[in-house]
Amino acid sequence: MCGIFAYLNYNVHRERRYILELLFNGLRRLEYRGYDSAGISIDSDSVPSADLGRNFPANSMNPLVFRQEGKIDQLVRSVYEEVDETRLDLDQTFSVHTGIAHTRWATHGPPSPRNSHPQSSGEGNEFLVVHNGIVTNYVVLKETLVRHGFKFESETDTEVIPKLAKFVFDKLSEEGGRPTFSQVVLEVMRQLEGAYALIFKSPHYPNELVACKRGSPLLLGLKEFKENSDGGTPFNDVKFLTKTDNPKELFLSSDANALIEHTKQVLVIEDDEVVHLKDGGISILKFDSDNAKATGGLPRPASVQRALSILEMEVEQIKKGNYEHYMQKEIHEQPESLKTTMSGRLIQEGPGKVKGILLGGLKDYLKTIRRSRRIVFIGCGTSYNAALAARPFVEELSGVPVSMEIASDLLDRQGPIYREDTAVFVSQSGETADTLLALDYAKKNGALCVGITNTVGSALARNTHCGIHINAGAEIGVASTKAYTSQIVVMTMLALAVGDDSISSKSRREAIIDNLFDLPNKVREVLQLDDEMKDLAKLLMDEQSLLMFGRGYNYATALEGALKVKEVALMHSEGMLAGEMKHGPLALVDETLPIVVIATRDACFSKQQSVIQQLHARKGRLIVMCTKGDASVVCPGGSCRAIEVPAVEDCLQPVINIIPLQLLAYHLTVLRGFDVDQPRNLAKSVTTQ
Ligand code: M6R
Repeated sequence: MCGIFAYLNYNVHRERRYILELLFNGLRRLEYRGYDSAGISIDSDSVPSADLGRNFPANSMNPLVFRQEGKIDQLVRSVYEEVDETRLDLDQTFSVHTGIAHTRWATHGPPSPRNSHPQSSGEGNEFLVVHNGIVTNYVVLKETLVRHGFKFESETDTEVIPKLAKFVFDKLSEEGGRPTFSQVVLEVMRQLEGAYALIFKSPHYPNELVACKRGSPLLLGLKEFKENSDGGTPFNDVKFLTKTDNPKELFLSSDANALIEHTKQVLVIEDDEVVHLKDGGISILKFDSDNAKATGGLPRPASVQRALSILEMEVEQIKKGNYEHYMQKEIHEQPESLKTTMSGRLIQEGPGKVKGILLGGLKDYLKTIRRSRRIVFIGCGTSYNAALAARPFVEELSGVPVSMEIASDLLDRQGPIYREDTAVFVSQSGETADTLLALDYAKKNGALCVGITNTVGSALARNTHCGIHINAGAEIGVASTKAYTSQIVVMTMLALAVGDDSISSKSRREAIIDNLFDLPNKVREVLQLDDEMKDLAKLLMDEQSLLMFGRGYNYATALEGALKVKEVALMHSEGMLAGEMKHGPLALVDETLPIVVIATRDACFSKQQSVIQQLHARKGRLIVMCTKGDASVVCPGGSCRAIEVPAVEDCLQPVINIIPLQLLAYHLTVLRGFDVDQPRNLAKSVTTQ
C-alpha cells in the first residue's frame, strides 16, 4: 500500500508554493493507495545547524518535514497553518529543488504524525525516506541501531531505513572518502529484507534524490524542456536517459496516475535498480545481491542503460468528469471499458461472421495451455470472484479441469501446483502481495504462469510467462467495478482462444462472440436501472445485514455483490451458494432480513425457482434479480421485489448481473454517508501480506 512521490526541478525556476502544490497534487493522485496519514519534505531557507558537527555542502538547506494524520486535505491545511506561523516565504524561487511526499496505509503503528512518512534519521533530518512496502528484518536492524545509540520515535518498520542510511554514511565518511548518495543507498539495500520502493532526500546531498525498489512499484517521469526558460516547450521525443543541462522536471511515483498530467515519458524502475537524480542527470545502477554477498564489502553495481516508454493513458482517465465519485464514474464507464477490453481481439470475417479471438500475449502458449493437466485460477477479492465467474465456461470450452485458489490460502496450505499446470493469476493492480507470492510459488513448482491484469508494467505483467492486459483504463475507486467486468470478458476470450473450434461447439462459440460484440449495448441498458437501485438503496439503507444467493455462473455474482456492499456501504453482507442454503443459512431467514436471489435464465433457473419458493415459505424478504419479462414468474402476484435485467448468453450474464449490485452498493454508501472512493481501512492495492 502507500503511495510515494517526489519532484525535482532542474534549471527550471519554481516557487516554493508551486512545489508544495505539485507535491500535494501528486499525493491526491496516489491517495487511493492509502489514506490514513500523509507527509512531505521540502527545503527550508535555513542552513543546517553547525551543532550537528557535520560538514554539509555549502548549498545545503535544512529540510522541512510536515506530517499529519488523516487525508491529504488535512495535511495541506496543517502545512499552510505552519507556513503562516513560521512565516516561511512561499514566493521564494528555486532553480533546483527536491521534494518528497508520502500517503500511508498503516501497517506498523497506528496513523499519527510520528508514524507518518517521511521518516527521519533523527536530529537535523540528515536522511529522510518515504517508503512503500514492508521491511521484514526491521526488528533486528532496529536492535543493532539502538546499540549504536540511535533513538527511535515511531513504531514503523520504515524508521530503520533513514537511520541505517545515516549509520552507513557516518561509517563510510569515517573510513575516509565521502560516499556518493547512491553508494549509501546501495549499502542500505544490502541490509534490508522485504519489499520496498524508497525515495531518499538528504541535506548531505542537496538537490539530489535517490530512489530504489525491490518488489513494490516505482516509476520515473521525465519532462525535459527545449529552451532554457521557465516552462519552455517540452521535448516530447526524448527516448533515452542521457545527461543534459536542459531544464527539466523529474518525478518519481508509485504509479502512473501521479505522472500523467506532467509527462507521458516514463521509465518503469526494475527491482534492484537504484536511480540517482543529480545535476540534471539520471543514472541507474543495478544492485547485485550475489555480488554484494560474495564480496561482503560495498556492492559493486553495474550501470544500466534504459529507454523511456510512453504512457498509454490520458489525463481524463484520472479525473471524475461530471460524476460525484470515481466509483460512480467507473460503474457508468463500463460500456466503454468493455469495448476497449475487446478492441482488436474479436476478429470478424464479415458482417455477422465471426472468425475468432486474437490474444497476442498468449498466442505462443495456447497449445501448452490446452495440454495442461489443470488450469488453476489464482487471485484475491474481486479478481478471485471474476475468475470464479469465468470458471464454468473455461471448463466447458477448454475441457481442462479448472480449480480455484485464493492466493493467500494457496500459500498458507502450500497447496499442490505441478509442472503440468497452467496457473492463471488475476489482479487488477498486478501488485497484490499475496498474488505475487503465489506467482513465485507456482513458478518454483514449474507451472506455466499466465497473468491477467489492468496494469501494464506491473510486477504481475513482468513476472508471468505470458498474459493478457484487460485494458479497462485507470480504476481509482478502491472498490473494483469496471475491472471486474473486463476481467470476466478477458477470461471468456481466453476460453474461446484455448477451446477447440470443433463443429459441435461452433454455434455456441459464435453465439458468445456475437454477444460479446453486443455486450456494451446490454451494459448500457442495465445501467438504466440506476434510479431503481437508488430506490432500493433507500429501502435498505438502515438494514444491518443483506444476504445474496446465487449459483452456477452467478455464484460469483452473489459473492461479488456482497463484497461491494460490505466494502463501501459498510453493511454486513454475505454472498452464498444457493445450493448450500438448506445446509445452514436458511436458519437466518425471517420476514426482516433482506435477501437478494439471483435467478436469471440459465441451466440453474428451475433450481433457483425452488429456492425462491422455500424462502417464500419461510416469509423471506426477497429481492429477485431475473431476466427481463420474468418478474411475474419469480415474484407471482408481486410477492417480492424484482430487478429485471437484459438477457445475454449464460457465461456473460455475470457481467450484466453485477451492475445493479454495484449501483446498489454505491447508492447505499452515499445514503449511509460513507466515503465511496476511499472506504474505511482499505486501500486500492494490497502490497503487504
Ligand atoms: O489488484 P487486485 O485485483 O489483485 O486486488 C485484489 C483485491 O484486493 C481487490 O479486488 C479488492 O477485493 C477490491 N477492493 C474489491 O473491490
